[in-house]
Amino acid sequence: MRAVGDVNGKGILDLACGSGYYSRMLKARGAEHVHGVDASEKMLAEVRKLHGGVTYYQHDLLEGPPPPPPFRPAVVVAAWLLPYASNFNELLEFCEAAAVNLESGGRFVGITALYTDMIARDPGALLRRDHGHIESETLGWEFKWTGRPEDGMQVESTLYSADRKAQVTLPSHFWSKHAIEKALEAAGFEAITWAPLEAASGAPETVATTKDPMPVGIFTARLA
Ligand SMILES: C[S@@+](CC[C@H](N)C(=O)[O-])C[C@H]1O[C@@H](n2cnc3c(N)ncnc32)[C@H](O)[C@@H]1O
Repeated sequence: MRAVGDVNGKGILDLACGSGYYSRMLKARGAEHVHGVDASEKMLAEVRKLHGGVTYYQHDLLEGPPPPPPFRPAVVVAAWLLPYASNFNELLEFCEAAAVNLESGGRFVGITALYTDMIARDPGALLRRDHGHIESETLGWEFKWTGRPEDGMQVESTLYSADRKAQVTLPSHFWSKHAIEKALEAAGFEAITWAPLEAASGAPETVATTKDPMPVGIFTARLA
């Protein structure tokens, strides 16, 4: 939310809005219009029941740019969209989907998994060469892959609830900052900056003080 900045009175487009968690949060923070776009109609059918002042559209961003909203978004956000890009061309298509609806100077803000130096070094490879595995019990994540780690690699990501009773496992692709920056620049973005994930205020002490790395980054880019 700090990366998105002040949204008061602004129009926001939320790509891959999923359950609309961020869409509703942005609306509650004063955005005038928030449109959420997601490929899953099943998900959107549930989310529309919550309403929250947000308009939701079904659209697969790999089948062309999203329909233009009836307002010019000041910011396009995309939380956890880029890990769905299975190759560089798809990464570029996602960045272009953000660019097409922005005016020059508009911002694209996203949170994504990252192929980091830690993964490139592959601690699992010390034992075996055919798979890797990293996890943080404190932060509640586990990432597993087969084969040698490389940019864009497919990873099985499991996220746990704080009490470890619930978990969700998603296939995802981990792209390096370098690959993401290349795709953003090819889509017309500049002034790309990265911020690390920070513990929310009120997070448990163990989470706030852990030294466990989190292969995740928040990027902000401006359309040239
Ligand atoms: C991990 S969820 C994140 C949802 C939401 N942004 C959040 O952070 O709570 C990823 C979402 O991306 C959507 N998605 C994946 N590929 C997509 C595509 N090609 N076009 C549109 N949405 C897509 C999925 O349907 C899913 O709802």
